[in-house]
Amino acid sequence: MFLPRCFARFLNCVRVKHILTVIVFLLLLNFFGVFTHLFEKDFYTDFHYPLEGDIPQFADQVRRGQKPGVAPITSYNYTFVHNPSHKCRDKDFHVSPRLVFLVKSAMRNFKRRNAIRATWGFERRFSDVTVRTVFLLGTSDDQETQKLIDIEATSYRDVLQADFLDTYFNNTIKTMIGFRWAVDFCPRSRYYMLVDDDFYVSTKNVLRFVRNPVHYPEYLEEADETIRQLARKLTLTAGNASGAVDKREVQEVLENHPVAHSVDSRKHLWQLRQHLLAPEGPAKTADFVSEKAAKAPERQLLEMDLPSDVRLFAGFVFTSAPHRHRTSKWYVDLEEYRWHMWPPYVSAGACILSREALFQLYFASMFTKHFRFDDIYLGIVAMKVNIEPLHSEEFYFQKLTYSGPHSYRYTIASHGYDDPDELAKVWAEVKAAGHA
Ligand SMILES: *[C@@H]1O[C@H](CO)[C@@H](O)[C@H](O)[C@H]1NC(C)=O
Ligand SMILES: *[C@@H]1O[C@H](CO)[C@@H](O)[C@H](O)[C@H]1NC(C)=O
Ligand SMILES: *[C@@H]1O[C@H](CO)[C@@H](O)[C@H](O)[C@H]1NC(C)=O
Repeated sequence: MFLPRCFARFLNCVRVKHILTVIVFLLLLNFFGVFTHLFEKDFYTDFHYPLEGDIPQFADQVRRGQKPGVAPITSYNYTFVHNPSHKCRDKDFHVSPRLVFLVKSAMRNFKRRNAIRATWGFERRFSDVTVRTVFLLGTSDDQETQKLIDIEATSYRDVLQADFLDTYFNNTIKTMIGFRWAVDFCPRSRYYMLVDDDFYVSTKNVLRFVRNPVHYPEYLEEADETIRQLARKLTLTAGNASGAVDKREVQEVLENHPVAHSVDSRKHLWQLRQHLLAPEGPAKTADFVSEKAAKAPERQLLEMDLPSDVRLFAGFVFTSAPHRHRTSKWYVDLEEYRWHMWPPYVSAGACILSREALFQLYFASMFTKHFRFDDIYLGIVAMKVNIEPLHSEEFYFQKLTYSGPHSYRYTIASHGYDDPDELAKVWAEVKAAGHA
């Protein structure tokens, strides 16, 4: 029994215990990525991600059909299995939708897609706003599912399926296929929303947001208040020539606040417009308003907009560090990404892009090395073309607790709607209250 006794004495030795403790401690530190952090590079002083060079210029050259200064390194040229190429066409012409939903979906999520078609993705929702919805899918070797998708694609004609393996870490491929399709088959939409199939979306609030993204939703509250006050004044002074509301005042308010948010304010807005359109105004203000001006508010509703070359890339913006502890679903080693911070990025799941932003990102992606997280990838590409992501609190990357329509009054998108029945119920309630 020589060995065991010797071993016991060995273990009893205080120094060895210490050494073991230290080793366990170091292993734990390593597990939680502490040493990895030591070898990280500083993002703020030392970030460079392939390719180097004048990426905006190369991207622009490809966009114009010229030969770029350097050859592209990335191509998402998977072939389409199903291509809803007619989506943005009317016979031989491209139509110009206001908004196109590019919905990232997984092959088996038939029910979610149906719920989206009936709720926020419903294309004929507004008589005066063109909205289109397309579902992005990859492929698998599951023939049964594929047969069902073939049927779905034929009956709804909104499935964009490309020949790549539909897995979580192929999300960047799915996203960029959506970009490529938009550029090739639907290039004239004003805005695009890239969104997952487990989201609640308020299409109405998306449209309100893109009118004034920097001041959303405050601008709506401000509008509500101004409209309410003026309508009140109008009511109080009805039939009172000396204290009557100047038509020009009404005109100005309507021009500056063409969108009302609450149901109440919409009634008031209607009242103000009627006042403006009424043939008989109080005598002293009548000459201010020509017939042309009187019709202006209607047009203003459509015309108030950001410039068409605005580079809007908006959503919930993160400034965060890569996960270096090995249990994380999002673990990345130094070889894949060396810097201590990610570039600012819009949380995957829901983001809104203007046409110009989508085009610039798409063409710049050809000169940016692939990265498997799609939101980080877009963040890197955005940095290369100097597009600064715009942050909005109304995109919820975790589920926003629903406690009646009022709680979703300004919500643009909320994660956590993997149950299609719940989506249908919540959406119907919020829509009835005028917020979806
Ligand atoms: C896709 O792109 C790669 C690299 O640019 C090229 O080698 C390949 O031939 C392309 N495939 C198709 C189907 O166009
Ligand atoms: C992504 O798709 C490609 C093309 O189908 C496939 O070769 C690759 O294995 C997929 N990657 C992952 C991580 O699933
Ligand atoms: C008419 O308006 C003026 C000014 O707002 C006010 O002082 C007056 O009391 C009003 N008269 C009537 C009859 O409402």
